[in-house]
Amino acid sequence: MTPNTLAPVALSKHGPRLSPIVAGAWRMAEWGMSIPQRMRWIEQCLDLGITSFDHADIYGNYSVETLFGEALAAQPSLRSRLQIITKCGIKLVSERRPGHAIKSYDTSRAYVVASVEASLRALRTDHLDLLLIHRPDALMDPDELAGTFSALRRDGKVLHFGVSNHSPSQLSLLHRRLPLATNQIELSPLQLNALTDGTLDQCIDLGLRPMIWSPLAGGSLFKADDDRARRVRAVLQALGRQYEVSMSTVAYAWIVRHPSNPLPITGSQRPEALLEAVAAFGVRMSAEDWYRVWEASAGQPVR
Ligand SMILES: NC(=O)c1ccc[n+]([C@@H]2O[C@H](COP(=O)([O-])OP(=O)(O)OC[C@H]3O[C@@H](n4cnc5c(N)ncnc54)[C@H](OP(=O)(O)O)[C@@H]3O)[C@@H](O)[C@H]2O)c1
Repeated sequence: MTPNTLAPVALSKHGPRLSPIVAGAWRMAEWGMSIPQRMRWIEQCLDLGITSFDHADIYGNYSVETLFGEALAAQPSLRSRLQIITKCGIKLVSERRPGHAIKSYDTSRAYVVASVEASLRALRTDHLDLLLIHRPDALMDPDELAGTFSALRRDGKVLHFGVSNHSPSQLSLLHRRLPLATNQIELSPLQLNALTDGTLDQCIDLGLRPMIWSPLAGGSLFKADDDRARRVRAVLQALGRQYEVSMSTVAYAWIVRHPSNPLPITGSQRPEALLEAVAAFGVRMSAEDWYRVWEASAGQPVR
């Protein structure tokens, strides 16, 4: 690994420049870190070249943005060294959002603007680098939402926009009205859907790099005890011995080998786990080895 392996990359032609590995903050509330420990975690990421941080308003029952914002407020110089991605659109039933009667989606102008304002306050920042619509909203009015995005950009509150967990047609609906920067989707050696459902094809076609959540299947890669997980683990471990890296690094190398040039989002607070993700850029996986992992996961050889 050389110091410039994690040089920032453009997410799309007009999109933000992010680090090729993104740090996920979803689990931060479980980490139980003090403010100095959160500052240290952010600095450890930055030292590794991981400068982009993935959030959502709902993470930790609407608490994680505040935890991160407290660290930024304690050391304001951090903000200019990192990029903040957050998401909105899912309404959880929560004591922190007493107005939500049932879990639902909302992409109306009033809701998205209020959600962005709340995220800015919680994160103690004056702008978001990238805002994603978290899940497809069946009631989304694409003209209204594109107008909302334009207004947020004009006001300097959000610099770039994208979606998450959207099908190709759902992404196109918005992208035709306002250029999006990414589709944040799930992909791992235990989750192959994106390889065949058209989402990754569309990213290549439109020149959008996908962001990848749960690249280690949320930890199931190590812990799950079913036949499929055991098969995949055996192949990842064998390839780890071959490439002289850890099983995690092989999983990340398998993801970044895809021609859509995905940006995996890590989910760990451990510095060693972040380093294992970064190390993937030192592995050039052969196509045959990539298909060995695919075959173990699919449970059948390619036809
Ligand atoms: N857009 C969406 O809908 C969506 C959905 C889910 C997640 N996300 C984003 O994606 C990020 C990553 O998701 P994720 O947390 O599921 O990622 P992940 O990397 O697939 O899973 C992380 C989990 O795996 C465990 N783990 C890592 N290495 C391990 C090892 N060697 N042995 C055993 N366990 C290990 C971690 O525990 P340790 O902390 O102990 O290492 C952690 O609990 C989230 O933070 C969030 O930002 C987005």
